[in-house]
Amino acid sequence: MGGTNPYIKTPDIKKPKRPFRITFLNIKKTVEVRLDHPVFGTGLPGSILDVAMGAGIDIDHACGGVCACSTCHVYIKSGGNSCSIPTENESDMLDLAPDVRPNSRLACQCVPNGEEDITVEIPSWNRNLVREGQ
Ligand code: FES
Repeated sequence: MGGTNPYIKTPDIKKPKRPFRITFLNIKKTVEVRLDHPVFGTGLPGSILDVAMGAGIDIDHACGGVCACSTCHVYIKSGGNSCSIPTENESDMLDLAPDVRPNSRLACQCVPNGEEDITVEIPSWNRNLVREGQ
């Protein structure tokens, strides 16, 4: 399941102009995001969830990546300035997540613009749900 939610505002998204990396600290995996990176189709195109799923990293995403659950809650440890600004819908949904911090984002809504490499931590309660593809 995946796609976008027609009932919420889509964030302003700037497409990357150069390749960049997203590092997932918990599983010690770095994904090279190329300009022609394939869209997996879960979460907003180019979102952290979309990139992760496309790389075989299965972050929990109960609503299918349409900003309706908060199970894709992650912490952006570095590179957050290059991410899309959270919409009111994302902020409202994050309010339902446990242990929200200033660097909390929904992986399905957070779209990096490629100006910085990104480092992501998956909260401890989600870590056992994270699976890496074969
Ligand atoms: S997967 Fe449900 S809000 Fe991101």
